[in-house]
Amino acid sequence: MGPGKSQRVAGAPITVRHVSTLAEYEECVRIQLITWGEDLATPSGLFVVARETGGQTLGAFAGEKMVGFTLGLAGFHDGKPIIHSHMTAVLSEFRDRGIGRMLKLAQRNDALARGIHLVAWTFDPLELKNAHFNINRLGAVVKRYIPNCYGITESPLHAGLPTDRLMAEWYLDSKRVTEIFAGKAARASSGAEKISIPADISERKQIEPAAGARVQSEMREGFLEKLKRGFIVTGLEIGPKEASYIFEIAESVAAEIATK
Ligand SMILES: CC(C)(COP(=O)(O)OP(=O)(O)OC[C@H]1O[C@@H](n2cnc3c(N)ncnc32)[C@H](O)[C@@H]1OP(=O)(O)O)[C@@H](O)C(=O)NCCC(=O)NCCS
Repeated sequence: MGPGKSQRVAGAPITVRHVSTLAEYEECVRIQLITWGEDLATPSGLFVVARETGGQTLGAFAGEKMVGFTLGLAGFHDGKPIIHSHMTAVLSEFRDRGIGRMLKLAQRNDALARGIHLVAWTFDPLELKNAHFNINRLGAVVKRYIPNCYGITESPLHAGLPTDRLMAEWYLDSKRVTEIFAGKAARASSGAEKISIPADISERKQIEPAAGARVQSEMREGFLEKLKRGFIVTGLEIGPKEASYIFEIAESVAAEIATK
Protein backbone atom coordinates (compact mmCIF):
# COMPACT_ATOMS: atom_id res chain seq x y z
CA MET A 1 0.00 0.00 0.00
CA GLY A 2 1.50 3.35 -0.99
CA PRO A 3 0.84 6.89 0.18
CA GLY A 4 -2.55 8.13 -0.93
CA LYS A 5 -4.23 4.69 -1.05
CA SER A 6 -7.00 4.02 1.42
CA GLN A 7 -8.23 0.93 3.21
CA ARG A 8 -11.15 0.11 5.50
CA VAL A 9 -9.96 -0.82 8.98
CA ALA A 10 -12.61 -1.92 11.46
CA GLY A 11 -15.27 0.12 9.68
CA ALA A 12 -13.33 3.40 9.54
CA PRO A 13 -11.76 4.37 6.23
CA ILE A 14 -8.06 4.93 6.97
CA THR A 15 -5.91 6.84 4.51
CA VAL A 16 -2.14 7.18 4.61
CA ARG A 17 -0.53 10.11 2.80
CA HIS A 18 2.41 12.48 2.92
CA VAL A 19 1.97 15.45 5.22
CA SER A 20 3.92 18.63 4.60
CA THR A 21 2.14 21.67 6.08
CA LEU A 22 2.79 23.36 9.43
CA ALA A 23 -0.78 22.68 10.54
CA GLU A 24 -0.29 18.95 9.86
CA TYR A 25 3.06 18.94 11.68
CA GLU A 26 1.31 20.50 14.70
CA GLU A 27 -1.13 17.57 14.57
CA CYS A 28 1.87 15.18 14.67
CA VAL A 29 3.17 17.08 17.72
CA ARG A 30 -0.26 16.70 19.35
CA ILE A 31 -0.16 12.92 18.82
CA GLN A 32 3.35 12.80 20.31
CA LEU A 33 2.23 14.77 23.39
CA ILE A 34 -0.58 12.28 23.96
CA THR A 35 1.74 9.30 23.36
CA TRP A 36 4.94 10.32 25.15
CA GLY A 37 4.33 13.62 26.96
CA GLU A 38 6.29 16.84 26.61
CA ASP A 39 9.79 15.56 27.38
CA LEU A 40 10.10 13.38 24.30
CA ALA A 41 8.08 15.28 21.67
CA THR A 42 9.89 16.40 18.51
CA PRO A 43 8.90 20.00 17.70
CA SER A 44 7.22 20.93 14.41
CA GLY A 45 10.39 22.76 13.28
CA LEU A 46 12.21 19.45 12.95
CA PHE A 47 9.46 18.15 10.65
CA VAL A 48 10.23 21.14 8.41
CA VAL A 49 13.94 20.28 8.52
CA ALA A 50 13.11 16.67 7.59
CA ARG A 51 11.00 17.85 4.63
CA GLU A 52 13.75 20.16 3.36
CA THR A 53 16.57 17.61 3.69
CA GLY A 54 15.10 14.55 1.97
CA GLY A 55 13.19 13.10 4.93
CA GLN A 56 9.50 12.20 5.02
CA THR A 57 6.41 12.53 7.20
CA LEU A 58 3.44 10.27 6.54
CA GLY A 59 0.14 10.66 8.32
CA ALA A 60 -2.68 8.15 8.87
CA PHE A 61 -6.16 9.66 8.77
CA ALA A 62 -9.56 8.37 9.85
CA GLY A 63 -11.65 10.61 7.64
CA GLU A 64 -10.12 14.06 8.25
CA LYS A 65 -8.69 13.20 11.67
CA MET A 66 -4.99 12.40 11.92
CA VAL A 67 -4.67 9.26 14.07
CA GLY A 68 -1.01 8.37 13.50
CA PHE A 69 2.15 9.47 11.78
CA THR A 70 5.73 8.50 11.07
CA LEU A 71 8.61 10.98 10.80
CA GLY A 72 11.83 10.02 9.01
CA LEU A 73 15.04 11.99 8.59
CA ALA A 74 17.46 11.48 5.70
CA GLY A 75 20.88 10.11 6.60
CA PHE A 76 23.74 7.89 5.49
CA HIS A 77 24.83 4.37 6.41
CA ASP A 78 28.09 3.03 4.96
CA GLY A 79 27.99 5.86 2.43
CA LYS A 80 24.49 5.01 1.18
CA PRO A 81 21.35 7.10 1.72
CA ILE A 82 18.92 5.88 4.37
CA ILE A 83 15.80 7.08 6.15
CA HIS A 84 16.22 7.26 9.93
CA SER A 85 12.70 6.76 11.24
CA HIS A 86 12.65 8.95 14.34
CA MET A 87 9.08 8.89 15.62
CA THR A 88 6.12 6.61 14.84
CA ALA A 89 2.88 6.67 16.79
CA VAL A 90 -0.75 5.66 16.43
CA LEU A 91 -3.32 6.99 18.92
CA SER A 92 -4.02 4.23 21.46
CA GLU A 93 -7.71 3.88 20.52
CA PHE A 94 -6.69 3.18 16.90
CA ARG A 95 -3.91 0.64 17.65
CA ASP A 96 -3.86 -3.03 16.70
CA ARG A 97 -5.88 -2.46 13.52
CA GLY A 98 -2.95 -2.48 11.11
CA ILE A 99 -2.46 1.30 10.94
CA GLY A 100 1.16 1.14 12.19
CA ARG A 101 1.86 -1.42 9.48
CA MET A 102 0.18 0.77 6.84
CA LEU A 103 2.39 3.70 7.89
CA LYS A 104 5.54 1.60 7.72
CA LEU A 105 4.52 0.19 4.32
CA ALA A 106 3.98 3.69 2.98
CA GLN A 107 7.35 4.71 4.43
CA ARG A 108 8.93 1.73 2.67
CA ASN A 109 7.26 2.48 -0.67
CA ASP A 110 8.27 6.14 -0.54
CA ALA A 111 11.89 5.25 0.28
CA LEU A 112 12.16 2.59 -2.45
CA ALA A 113 10.62 4.97 -5.01
CA ARG A 114 13.49 7.36 -4.23
CA GLY A 115 16.21 4.70 -4.45
CA ILE A 116 16.61 4.31 -0.66
CA HIS A 117 16.89 0.67 0.45
CA LEU A 118 17.33 0.95 4.23
CA VAL A 119 15.18 2.45 6.98
CA ALA A 120 16.70 2.43 10.48
CA TRP A 121 15.39 3.42 13.94
CA THR A 122 16.16 2.86 17.59
CA PHE A 123 13.93 1.00 20.02
CA ASP A 124 13.96 -0.13 23.64
CA PRO A 125 14.64 -3.89 23.90
CA LEU A 126 12.57 -3.99 27.11
CA GLU A 127 9.45 -2.84 25.18
CA LEU A 128 8.52 -6.26 23.88
CA LYS A 129 5.37 -5.43 21.88
CA ASN A 130 7.25 -2.82 19.95
CA ALA A 131 10.22 -5.19 19.50
CA HIS A 132 7.83 -7.86 18.17
CA PHE A 133 6.34 -5.35 15.70
CA ASN A 134 9.81 -4.31 14.48
CA ILE A 135 11.48 -7.71 14.24
CA ASN A 136 8.70 -10.22 13.55
CA ARG A 137 6.03 -8.14 11.81
CA LEU A 138 8.29 -5.84 9.77
CA GLY A 139 11.40 -8.04 9.41
CA ALA A 140 13.96 -5.59 10.81
CA VAL A 141 17.26 -7.02 12.11
CA VAL A 142 19.59 -5.64 14.80
CA LYS A 143 23.36 -5.31 14.55
CA ARG A 144 23.95 -2.62 17.18
CA TYR A 145 23.19 -2.13 20.89
CA ILE A 146 23.66 1.45 22.10
CA PRO A 147 23.97 1.73 25.91
CA ASN A 148 22.21 4.79 27.34
CA CYS A 149 21.59 6.14 23.82
CA TYR A 150 19.66 9.30 24.77
CA GLY A 151 20.86 9.68 28.36
CA ILE A 152 18.69 9.24 31.46
CA THR A 153 15.50 11.26 30.98
CA GLU A 154 12.77 12.55 33.29
CA SER A 155 10.11 10.78 31.22
CA PRO A 156 7.95 8.43 33.33
CA LEU A 157 7.98 6.03 30.35
CA HIS A 158 11.71 5.45 30.84
CA ALA A 159 11.29 4.68 34.57
CA GLY A 160 14.65 6.34 35.37
CA LEU A 161 16.57 3.59 33.51
CA PRO A 162 19.48 4.26 31.14
CA THR A 163 18.00 4.57 27.63
CA ASP A 164 19.64 1.47 26.14
CA ARG A 165 18.50 1.06 22.53
CA LEU A 166 18.72 -1.44 19.70
CA MET A 167 19.18 -0.09 16.17
CA ALA A 168 16.57 -1.68 13.90
CA GLU A 169 17.79 -2.04 10.32
CA TRP A 170 14.95 -2.63 7.87
CA TYR A 171 16.31 -3.80 4.51
CA LEU A 172 13.32 -2.77 2.47
CA ASP A 173 13.55 -4.94 -0.66
CA SER A 174 15.47 -7.86 0.90
CA LYS A 175 14.22 -11.44 0.61
CA ARG A 176 13.51 -11.44 4.36
CA VAL A 177 11.22 -8.40 4.28
CA THR A 178 9.52 -9.34 0.99
CA GLU A 179 8.72 -12.82 2.34
CA ILE A 180 7.39 -11.50 5.65
CA PHE A 181 5.03 -9.19 3.75
CA ALA A 182 3.98 -12.18 1.65
CA GLY A 183 2.96 -13.91 4.91
CA LYS A 184 5.96 -16.23 5.24
CA ALA A 185 7.56 -16.17 8.71
CA ALA A 186 11.37 -16.11 8.85
CA ARG A 187 12.91 -19.25 10.47
CA ALA A 188 16.10 -19.16 12.53
CA SER A 189 18.97 -21.46 11.48
CA SER A 190 20.14 -24.32 13.70
CA GLY A 191 23.16 -22.41 15.12
CA ALA A 192 20.94 -19.73 16.64
CA GLU A 193 21.57 -18.47 20.18
CA LYS A 194 19.19 -16.58 22.47
CA ILE A 195 18.93 -14.07 25.29
CA SER A 196 15.85 -14.47 27.47
CA ILE A 197 14.21 -11.86 29.67
CA PRO A 198 10.94 -11.98 31.67
CA ALA A 199 7.89 -11.70 29.41
CA ASP A 200 6.34 -9.11 31.75
CA ILE A 201 9.41 -6.84 31.83
CA SER A 202 7.76 -3.96 29.92
CA GLU A 203 5.16 -3.54 32.68
CA ARG A 204 7.39 -4.66 35.56
CA LYS A 205 10.10 -2.05 34.97
CA GLN A 206 7.50 0.66 35.52
CA ILE A 207 6.53 -0.59 38.97
CA GLU A 208 9.85 -2.16 40.00
CA PRO A 209 12.64 0.00 38.52
CA ALA A 210 15.33 -1.94 40.44
CA ALA A 211 14.23 -5.19 38.75
CA GLY A 212 14.15 -3.37 35.40
CA ALA A 213 17.70 -2.11 35.94
CA ARG A 214 18.94 -5.60 36.84
CA VAL A 215 17.40 -7.22 33.77
CA GLN A 216 18.66 -4.38 31.58
CA SER A 217 22.24 -4.61 32.79
CA GLU A 218 22.41 -8.42 32.31
CA MET A 219 20.77 -8.11 28.92
CA ARG A 220 23.19 -5.36 27.87
CA GLU A 221 26.18 -7.53 28.69
CA GLY A 222 24.73 -10.47 26.77
CA PHE A 223 23.84 -8.40 23.70
CA LEU A 224 27.24 -6.70 23.52
CA GLU A 225 29.02 -10.04 23.85
CA LYS A 226 26.95 -11.77 21.12
CA LEU A 227 27.11 -8.84 18.70
CA LYS A 228 30.89 -8.73 19.17
CA ARG A 229 31.06 -12.43 18.23
CA GLY A 230 29.38 -11.68 14.90
CA PHE A 231 25.77 -12.54 15.78
CA ILE A 232 22.82 -10.31 14.84
CA VAL A 233 19.22 -10.34 16.11
CA THR A 234 16.80 -11.93 13.67
CA GLY A 235 13.85 -12.95 15.83
CA LEU A 236 11.91 -12.58 19.07
CA GLU A 237 9.91 -15.38 20.68
CA ILE A 238 7.42 -14.34 23.34
CA GLY A 239 6.25 -17.09 25.67
CA PRO A 240 4.08 -16.96 28.81
CA LYS A 241 7.07 -16.50 31.15
CA GLU A 242 10.01 -15.49 28.99
CA ALA A 243 10.73 -13.55 25.84
CA SER A 244 13.82 -14.55 23.88
CA TYR A 245 15.79 -12.52 21.39
CA ILE A 246 17.12 -14.88 18.69
CA PHE A 247 20.63 -14.33 17.37
CA GLU A 248 22.13 -15.75 14.18
CA ILE A 249 25.63 -15.42 12.73
CA ALA A 250 25.59 -12.39 10.43
CA GLU A 251 27.09 -14.25 7.45
CA SER A 252 24.40 -16.93 7.62
CA VAL A 253 21.68 -14.32 6.97
CA ALA A 254 23.67 -11.97 4.70
CA ALA A 255 21.93 -13.15 1.50
CA GLU A 256 18.51 -12.92 3.15
CA ILE A 257 18.93 -9.26 4.13
CA ALA A 258 20.81 -8.12 1.01
CA THR A 259 19.03 -5.30 -0.84
CA LYS A 260 18.79 -4.87 -4.62
C1 LIG B 1 4.08 0.85 17.59
C2 LIG B 1 2.74 1.39 17.04
C3 LIG B 1 3.02 2.57 16.12
C4 LIG B 1 2.07 0.25 16.24
O1 LIG B 1 0.85 0.79 15.70
P1 LIG B 1 -0.43 -0.13 15.47
O2 LIG B 1 -1.36 0.61 14.58
O3 LIG B 1 -0.95 -0.66 16.73
O4 LIG B 1 0.27 -1.30 14.63
P2 LIG B 1 -0.41 -2.52 13.87
O5 LIG B 1 -1.86 -2.63 14.24
O6 LIG B 1 -0.04 -2.42 12.44
O7 LIG B 1 0.40 -3.71 14.45
C5 LIG B 1 0.15 -4.06 15.76
C6 LIG B 1 1.28 -4.91 16.18
O8 LIG B 1 2.20 -4.06 16.83
C7 LIG B 1 2.42 -4.52 18.14
N1 LIG B 1 2.63 -3.36 19.02
C8 LIG B 1 3.81 -2.69 19.06
N2 LIG B 1 3.79 -1.76 20.00
C9 LIG B 1 2.58 -1.78 20.58
C10 LIG B 1 1.97 -1.04 21.63
N3 LIG B 1 2.63 -0.08 22.31
N4 LIG B 1 0.69 -1.30 21.93
C11 LIG B 1 0.03 -2.27 21.29
N5 LIG B 1 0.56 -3.02 20.30
C12 LIG B 1 1.84 -2.79 19.94
C13 LIG B 1 1.25 -5.40 18.50
O9 LIG B 1 1.73 -6.45 19.32
C14 LIG B 1 0.75 -5.94 17.15
O10 LIG B 1 1.33 -7.17 16.85
P3 LIG B 1 0.40 -8.41 16.29
O11 LIG B 1 -0.05 -7.98 14.92
O12 LIG B 1 1.31 -9.57 16.25
O13 LIG B 1 -0.72 -8.53 17.26
C15 LIG B 1 1.75 1.79 18.17
O14 LIG B 1 1.55 0.69 19.00
C16 LIG B 1 2.21 2.97 19.01
O15 LIG B 1 1.93 4.11 18.68
N6 LIG B 1 2.89 2.70 20.13
C17 LIG B 1 3.34 3.76 21.03
C18 LIG B 1 4.47 4.56 20.45
C19 LIG B 1 5.67 3.71 20.11
O16 LIG B 1 6.11 2.88 20.90
N7 LIG B 1 6.24 3.92 18.91
C20 LIG B 1 7.38 3.18 18.41
C21 LIG B 1 8.67 3.79 18.81
S1 LIG B 1 9.00 5.33 17.99
